[in-house]
Amino acid sequence: MNQDQLKQMVGEAARDEVLKLPAGQILGVGTGSTANCFIDALAPHKDHFAGTVSSSNATTERLLKHGFQVLDLNDVTDLPAYVDGADEIDPAGHMIKGGGGALTREKIIASMARQFICICDSSKQVAVLGNFALPVEIIPLAKGIVSRELEKLGGKVTLRLAKNTHADLNQTPSEPFVTDNGGWILDVAGLKIADPIKMEAQINQIAGVITVGLFAKEKANLLLVSNASGLERLVL
Ligand code: A5P
Repeated sequence: MNQDQLKQMVGEAARDEVLKLPAGQILGVGTGSTANCFIDALAPHKDHFAGTVSSSNATTERLLKHGFQVLDLNDVTDLPAYVDGADEIDPAGHMIKGGGGALTREKIIASMARQFICICDSSKQVAVLGNFALPVEIIPLAKGIVSRELEKLGGKVTLRLAKNTHADLNQTPSEPFVTDNGGWILDVAGLKIADPIKMEAQINQIAGVITVGLFAKEKANLLLVSNASGLERLVL
């Protein structure tokens, strides 16, 4: 089974999971290739939900294309569940997220949701977070000061650059990647994150940081993970 098939399998498992929720509620939807599989699998059942809240412009576009209603987060007060992927997840459900650059909206929605359902294939499971470079969204003018502070924590900091895609032909690869919120992303390599809750708080306190892609306070409550021999459902 290849990785695309593993993502599809876990996307379908998440569909079955959220369809257990009573009809007529709002669902939080994440960003990335695994979340996309979930959206596609859920599309035939979109009427089970009164609407969705979306963690990125890309996800909004996909949801709308399938005919889901996408609500303004400010109009929503109750969110039973948020479904999203992860770049790494540890045994306690702490995650590194933000590989797709959507970490800030993801964290806002995760903080509203009563349940975070993480969906991934088993390649994302690690004993200790930190092999994947930790994304930190920042206010652009604070790049220098925030980079120096992150280096003091032992990380090697790289400014994320934009991809020169067909959709964005005028953007040269030497320009910074710009998030949906107008922020930049610093990717911090080489951190061994033994205490995710402490490091999340530490990085959040650096002036100029918008969001750190460590989801420790807003960790996963349920992990659906696919591997070659099938699917695991872990309550965390
Ligand atoms: C998006 O910003 C991320 O947090 C994604 O949830 C994460 O990168 C997982 O993406 P994939 O499902 O594409 O691996």
